[in-house]
Amino acid sequence: MTESQNSLIQLIDFPLKHDERGDLVIAEVGRQVPFDINRIFYIFNTEDGGKRGFHAHKKNRIVLIALRGSSIIKLDNGRNKEEVLLDCPNQGLVLEPEVWHSMEEFKKDTVLLVLASELYDEDDYLRDYDEFINYIQDK
Ligand code: TYD
Repeated sequence: MTESQNSLIQLIDFPLKHDERGDLVIAEVGRQVPFDINRIFYIFNTEDGGKRGFHAHKKNRIVLIALRGSSIIKLDNGRNKEEVLLDCPNQGLVLEPEVWHSMEEFKKDTVLLVLASELYDEDDYLRDYDEFINYIQDK
């Protein structure tokens, strides 16, 4: 995993097998993915410049993979803000809980795969920025 100390950006380079038939990428729990996967979801049919997210999780950990197209992922832990372009199907971005995040500047027809550690639970979401700041400061 590529991560500099204190950076919010933790990128995974998944193994890629290329041959004359095309490309194959492998993601294994405990090898590249740092949690047990309980859910996957994916975002597609995006419009140019679209954005989504704008929330933080209390417990859920995710890995984002741009299978096709690209998006700029913006991260904010209440102290630092960073952003990273996801545009490579063999690269994943690990997003820890308590990080406010948005996916922005989608290219049209991007396919963004999300691996999640937890089943869907709306109570795990902090969807209001002020509520997020209060939540992390109260800990
Ligand atoms: P939402 O959280 O708004 O998506 P994004 O994070 O991309 O902005 O989710 C859209 C809708 O889908 C919302 O009603 C919640 C629902 N949803 C589920 O039911 N299960 C899931 O696993 C996810 C990710 C969303």
